[in-house]
Amino acid sequence: MEKQVKVLVEQCLSALDALPTELKAASAAIAEIKVKYLGKSGSLTALLRSMRDLPADERPAFGALVNDAQDRLKAAIDGAEAVLDAKILAERLSGEKVDITLPGKDKTPGTLHPITLVANEVQEIFLNLGFELSEGPEIETDNYNFQMLNIPSEHAARDMQDTFFVTDSIVLRTHTSPNQARIMEKKQPPIKMICPGRTYRSDDDATHSPIFHQIEGLVVDKRVTMSDLKGTLDLFCKTMFSPETKTRLRPSYFPFTEPSVEVDMSCSSCGGSGCGLCKGTGWIEILGAGIVNPKVLENCGIDSSVYGGFAFGMGIERIAMIKYGIPDIRLFFENDVRFLRQFKG
Ligand code: DAH
Repeated sequence: MEKQVKVLVEQCLSALDALPTELKAASAAIAEIKVKYLGKSGSLTALLRSMRDLPADERPAFGALVNDAQDRLKAAIDGAEAVLDAKILAERLSGEKVDITLPGKDKTPGTLHPITLVANEVQEIFLNLGFELSEGPEIETDNYNFQMLNIPSEHAARDMQDTFFVTDSIVLRTHTSPNQARIMEKKQPPIKMICPGRTYRSDDDATHSPIFHQIEGLVVDKRVTMSDLKGTLDLFCKTMFSPETKTRLRPSYFPFTEPSVEVDMSCSSCGGSGCGLCKGTGWIEILGAGIVNPKVLENCGIDSSVYGGFAFGMGIERIAMIKYGIPDIRLFFENDVRFLRQFKG
């Protein structure tokens, strides 16, 4: 019996020595060996069972021998499994190796559009002056876009705006001014708001785009004067362009303001001495403004004998073109990244 144990151990160990080299086959072979020698109906278990047939005094020594053989085989099989696992891992790692010499994938972060950057900058200046931000619809009624702003249907001022009509009474807003009426209808003074947004006109050349952006400003309170308007817009120009910038008001006409003005600023390129940008005049027109026409206040339910106000509207593209010396408005809408990437927030 002792000899049988010895033979079994040797057989098992040499089977472990002769494992196939292919890793899957080796793994299957180890599993088979485990069952064959150590399993419930394995050879060593069978020997242990046959102990019954031995004389009582020989049983302890034989039991110890089989247990010892079992331990040795278990350790040998565990060892073979560990070696195999390490080989499997090494093979997987070498298959998944990263080639660090390959060129990397370039992920260039995007930048804000120059129109967004300039609009943010303009907004920031007015928010710092205590203006509140508001927004209105881009598809607007004829009533808000024109009539509430003192531009009746037969009024000559409608010729100033090449309107996109959706229906007879609905338009794509031609300016951000309708939001003045929307705000004043909802809220009694004091009002101090700006309204940025997209606007539309049937117009298309180097300085006009059918889609463009404006920022509207409105202040309504008791005792608002033209010098408040001038002071606010002068501060705006100095902050937006340079502290040396000068401004002047020129008489103009808008139905919703009375009196109305155009605001000019000293040329940001030549400083006022005259150049190509300012066509030799030293001045650049940047926005329209005026004292809110009392008729507009009354249209919106505000008592014009108590309250007055000033308003202004400017084109964002125009401000951006002057600030960055951009000759053609269409560059903003072609969205060529070589152009866009030159502006960083
Ligand atoms: N809405 C005018 C335009 O689009 C600009 C403008 C002028 C707005 C005078 C105003 C203003 O609020 O007071 O040409």
